Amino acid sequence: MAKVTPHQWPWRGVIEEYRDFLPVTEDTPIITLLEGGTPLIPSRVIGPSLPGRLRLFFKYEGVNPTGSFKDRGMTMAISKAKEAGARITMCASTGNTSAAAAAYSSVAGMTSVVLIPAGYVALGKLSQALAYGARTLAVDGNFDDCLAVVRAITNNYPVALVNSLNPYRMEGQKTAAFEVCDTLGGVPDFHALPVGNAGNITAYWCGYREYKERGLVDSLPAMLGFQAAGAAPLCLGRPVEKPETVATAIRIGNPARWKDACQAVEQSGGLFRALTDDEILQAYKDLSSMEGIFVEPSSATGVAGIRKLAGEGYFGTDPVTVVCTLTGHGLKDPDRAVEMAEEPEPVPADVEYIVDLLGLASTRPDTKVAKPVAIQG
Ligand SMILES: Cc1ncc(COP(=O)(O)O)c(C=O)c1O
Repeated sequence: MAKVTPHQWPWRGVIEEYRDFLPVTEDTPIITLLEGGTPLIPSRVIGPSLPGRLRLFFKYEGVNPTGSFKDRGMTMAISKAKEAGARITMCASTGNTSAAAAAYSSVAGMTSVVLIPAGYVALGKLSQALAYGARTLAVDGNFDDCLAVVRAITNNYPVALVNSLNPYRMEGQKTAAFEVCDTLGGVPDFHALPVGNAGNITAYWCGYREYKERGLVDSLPAMLGFQAAGAAPLCLGRPVEKPETVATAIRIGNPARWKDACQAVEQSGGLFRALTDDEILQAYKDLSSMEGIFVEPSSATGVAGIRKLAGEGYFGTDPVTVVCTLTGHGLKDPDRAVEMAEEPEPVPADVEYIVDLLGLASTRPDTKVAKPVAIQG
């Protein structure tokens, strides 16, 4: 009998792929769901339709194991917590961190406690935290209130903090910048992303700088951080006491990584900019209907921002490469998707009725689509 060569799945998760760049040793237990290795998708419609000569790419993080970029940081945070002997992990979350913390903690055999702002976490994310078995506490307060409680508890009790204040989270998340460079064969001119607690923009900037310091690339991108207008402390230069936006993942008034994010933008020659909820939701709709990429509303904020800047002539007239991180999957927030779409049309199970409804009755018989041919066994 012929021998089958076992297929080696090539991607090993971000820690094994980028071990040389990460603070792990032979003794670190690697807790992974094979996160990372996400696609860098060239924009087919939105990029080419913008003024200027943008080569626009989407780094689609929604295809990570729990559906967001948080998995990159969580594989590191939980591996290091396990190495240190922690039994309980804790985080405050607008939803995605809690999903990732719950999943990776369960793989590690640790108890995960997540604090979420009651009533402000999208259904998909909440269902994940519950399904992965996290002790889920719905706090009567916003994200900033949740984080204050988590900081107080993790400072005083044997509980591992796995919010993006945890430096290992940043270490893991920086691998997305490595992947962008590896895929493009260099550095983009601009990197755009939504900003909430400001961990991700900090991590990308670290990643790009590290690749440059190691001589793997010879330039750095300008970092473009986009916030929702009702939750835009970094644009306003002051905390926002009552942040409000449909983009619940970035509904944050006092980012923990404030200073680091400002440094990333200043050092890279980038900017922060605020987008209205209408602009964000338009980009959200267009990403799925024009590009076939379904994201959650917050994740579309970067695309709304690029559109705005392109309209203002920000990118000039020379060709530029722009990468925009799409941070989370659309199924995270199914309520929003259904609310934004047309209702499904009720129909009977009747061929003629549906043929009529679709206006197919008038199409000529010889234009019928060829039937697939059955493969003989
Ligand atoms: C989908 C999504 N996009 C963007 C962000 C913002 O990332 P950061 O808080 O690191 O700025 C978050 C954070 O929770 C998120 O879940």
